[in-house]
Amino acid sequence: MCGIVGYIGNNEKKEILLDGLQELEYRGYDSAGIAIIENKQLKNFKAVGRLKNLREKTKDYSSEGFGVSIGHTRWATHGKPTELNAHPHMGAYSFVVHNGIIENYQALKKELQAEGAKFLSQTDTETIVHLFEKNHKINNNPNNTPWKAFQDTIKRLEGAYATLLITEADEQSIYFAKNGSPMLIGFKDNDIYFASSDTPIIGKATEVYYLEDGEFGYAHNGKLHLFNVDGQKKFTKQALATDKAMAQKDGYRFFMEKEIYEQSTVMNDTMMGRVLDGKIDFEELDPTLFDNISNIKICACGTSYHSALASSYLFERLAKIPCQIEIASEFRYKEPLLRDDTLFITISQSGETADTLEALKMAKRAGLKSLSICNVDNSSIVRESDAAVLTRAGIEKGVASTKAFATQTMVLWMLAIYVAQAKKTISKEVLEIELLAMRQTPKALLVKEELHSKMTRLSKRYLHGHGFFFIGRDLFFPLALEGALKLKEISYLHAEGYPSGEMKHGPIALADAELFTIALMPKSLHYDKIKSNVEELCARDVTLLAISPEAFDLADDFVQTTYSSHPMLEFFEMMVVTQLLALEISVRLGNDVDMPRNLAKSVTVE
Ligand code: G6P
Repeated sequence: MCGIVGYIGNNEKKEILLDGLQELEYRGYDSAGIAIIENKQLKNFKAVGRLKNLREKTKDYSSEGFGVSIGHTRWATHGKPTELNAHPHMGAYSFVVHNGIIENYQALKKELQAEGAKFLSQTDTETIVHLFEKNHKINNNPNNTPWKAFQDTIKRLEGAYATLLITEADEQSIYFAKNGSPMLIGFKDNDIYFASSDTPIIGKATEVYYLEDGEFGYAHNGKLHLFNVDGQKKFTKQALATDKAMAQKDGYRFFMEKEIYEQSTVMNDTMMGRVLDGKIDFEELDPTLFDNISNIKICACGTSYHSALASSYLFERLAKIPCQIEIASEFRYKEPLLRDDTLFITISQSGETADTLEALKMAKRAGLKSLSICNVDNSSIVRESDAAVLTRAGIEKGVASTKAFATQTMVLWMLAIYVAQAKKTISKEVLEIELLAMRQTPKALLVKEELHSKMTRLSKRYLHGHGFFFIGRDLFFPLALEGALKLKEISYLHAEGYPSGEMKHGPIALADAELFTIALMPKSLHYDKIKSNVEELCARDVTLLAISPEAFDLADDFVQTTYSSHPMLEFFEMMVVTQLLALEISVRLGNDVDMPRNLAKSVTVE
């Protein structure tokens, strides 16, 4: 996990790299570095911590004229976040940046050290540059060009990588390889850009090529030379998006706050052309996708896993189709029994989550049909899937996911109806009720000023204690899990999500006045059941924040939501309440809301 950028051309390189890295900071931000070769001069800067430290360090430097350059923002996997472990990693005359994990690095490192290579860092990445220089030096053979040495190097790498290498042995080229981690290449005139995602190059490049796994090559003299196992490859560039404005903060204090407020409007985009008169349609789906399918399995991580879990209630209830949900990292090694009547769905905001991507590859190898629900077009998961439905949430920058969760849940709800239509398990009347509720969702997601200021006021009472329990039943259990995840991600307070009926089977032992319980008490779904569960907790003196359309006497704090006869409308409104609660607690604690400690937006390692 990390972000990489590269640039080859005549423009000032330091700013291109730093601006690009700024866009990728969400991928990791414990250290950063750049390396530039121009006029036979090699320059390298690294700094621990956020990118601003690297900016400060490089403020008196600027690069002139033609040159090659690479940069990296890191999220530590092997070795602590120190300057020595920051990329680019250096050999005697070359530099490398890398995103991913080289799984056989220990064996390679041993071999290289035995031959005299001096390693400065604890990273797996450093093996690439030493291996390259070793391959380059072998025999002093005139045919042993840097390009050949690079090819010999990547042949030996196992694991996931996207990597860029520059070397004084060939000052006019950038070498690249991609396998399992994202990388794309941008073009404008004779300038060539590399990046882990397209935001760093929007506004700079005009065309783009998204590298496939197993592709490698070099950029030289304004030209890209692309290869895979079969040799040199032709490739087609496509136009690059131009709108980065959506990714700016728009006057909100934090991206997360802006993204909470945006949920109402992006939901319209999510539904556009899909929620139609009398039916749900997905233009992008071939209706035969569901032929011979009698089971659904969904795999995801983190927040995406929670939207999957919520959807399992909808698939079974509305489409009458068995639906199992799996955490991708567990699924990978459980030796799952996969049947070919199963549709394999992956859910991912980024489309790059390594565990989810691997789970998808496993399902494909087992011959299953695959569908991804994703926020990033052309991402690895989208490209790997037989079919994809985009959530259309726009770029999500806050590490704690909000609008991605809302739009994923909406897509899954629509999909449940779509399958129900195909399987004829839904009556016309119920279908109408569902469609009407969907159309009302943007309203349920509107953030009311009074609600936000109430959450700001309430938050001051929830800054201590020995933990939070978010509880709910049915659809509101996954929402409880998600509410707890939001809180722990950005407040660093201990929070758990629990099915309320399960509290008495153990967790209630923790109950006392310092245990904060956030109860999701919708009126439209099992209200009486959850009410008695909450009463059991109140009898043990927990501090209770009840979220419900119905006033609840025993609550220490109460947030009144709008009554709706449709649970999904209550779901979305309560989701906003839990998001605001987490946000305001985090603000009061002085935490970095958008980039919480130890987390990264996109986890491209196992
Ligand atoms: C990381 C992020 C989470 C996210 C999870 C899955 O852990 O911090 O917010 O839910 O990855 O990411 P995906 O992009 O696959 O939805």
